[in-house]
Amino acid sequence: MLILGIESSCDDTGVALVENGRTLLGSLVASQVRLHSQFGGIVPEVAPRQHLEVILPLIDKLLQETKATVRDIDAIAVTNGPGLLGSLLIGLNTGRTLAYLWNKPLIEVDHLISHIYSNWLNATTPTKWPVLAVIVSGGHTELVLMQSPTKFQSIGGTRDDAVGEAFDKAAKILGLGYPGGPIISKLAKPGKVPKLPRPMLNDGLEMSFSGLKTALTKLAGKYPKAALAYEFQVAIIEVLSTKIERAIKKYQPKGMLVAGGVAANLLLREQVFNVARRWKIPCWVPEAQYCMDNAAMVALAAYFLQGAKNNLWYNVKVKTNSVLTAHD
Ligand code: KG4
Ligand code: ZN
Repeated sequence: MLILGIESSCDDTGVALVENGRTLLGSLVASQVRLHSQFGGIVPEVAPRQHLEVILPLIDKLLQETKATVRDIDAIAVTNGPGLLGSLLIGLNTGRTLAYLWNKPLIEVDHLISHIYSNWLNATTPTKWPVLAVIVSGGHTELVLMQSPTKFQSIGGTRDDAVGEAFDKAAKILGLGYPGGPIISKLAKPGKVPKLPRPMLNDGLEMSFSGLKTALTKLAGKYPKAALAYEFQVAIIEVLSTKIERAIKKYQPKGMLVAGGVAANLLLREQVFNVARRWKIPCWVPEAQYCMDNAAMVALAAYFLQGAKNNLWYNVKVKTNSVLTAHD
């Protein structure tokens, strides 16, 4: 079962080929970071034009590099939201048109759920349920309880800014450029600065990060940027870890996984593994490049969600320790 994944929800154009929900044959991402960084953030009108320019050549390149032919492809998977409307439409129309022309089934998948499946690229994958999934991206911050690989229940999340968005806005306030997450985490160094608030720390599993911007704005220009970046990062990750730990206490999951662009953050990775160790549960985080938007996760999500429903993988023979066992 070979699935061609297509991702274009925001500013990255991604295409990938994944076999049997397990083997990544190839994944290409055309980043628009340089294009948007001159404006200090993503320009929604510019992103789709760039997707349109690169998406077909990228699919061509993927087929060439993986030596796959159109005939080898069993289904096409594409992100259908959430995301920037113009950007989504380029991927969706490409996927729909190719599915029609090549006579392949089309599977449309949710972007957030796809992020979760980037963890199925890891050497091992969850086998015991429920699993706590922590999605931390530029557009979303969600705590999700997975009762099985295909059953999701939202149990908490942000009321305003997403964590990645908070990083991006903080970088803008400090005059550091875009995207903020990697820049802030690279620059961050401990120093003497007033403590930033830890918003809604005692408020169940709900979060709020927009107030941190105001607090940071008041300090910007008065203290070293590196020390402010450090304090900002620590404040956010302390809130996240507290919420994750509370969710574990309440729902007693048998494992946890983290996904989305902010999962590339080294301090966050360290902290979630600390929490998992404390609760003696396994923890999965994707390789940094698969934390960001990519199409491998789209193909994987399609394989598990729609594939499972439609028996697409019914006759696929799978080796032991494969993810398929998780469906039994
Ligand atoms: O998942 P993603 O690629 O796109 C969305 O679906 O939003 O996430 C992008 C977000 C950006 O906000 C970026 O600043 C953040 O992920 N990010 C990071 C790091 N790397 C990327 N945030 C904190 N630390 C990082 N190392
Ligand atoms: Zn994303």
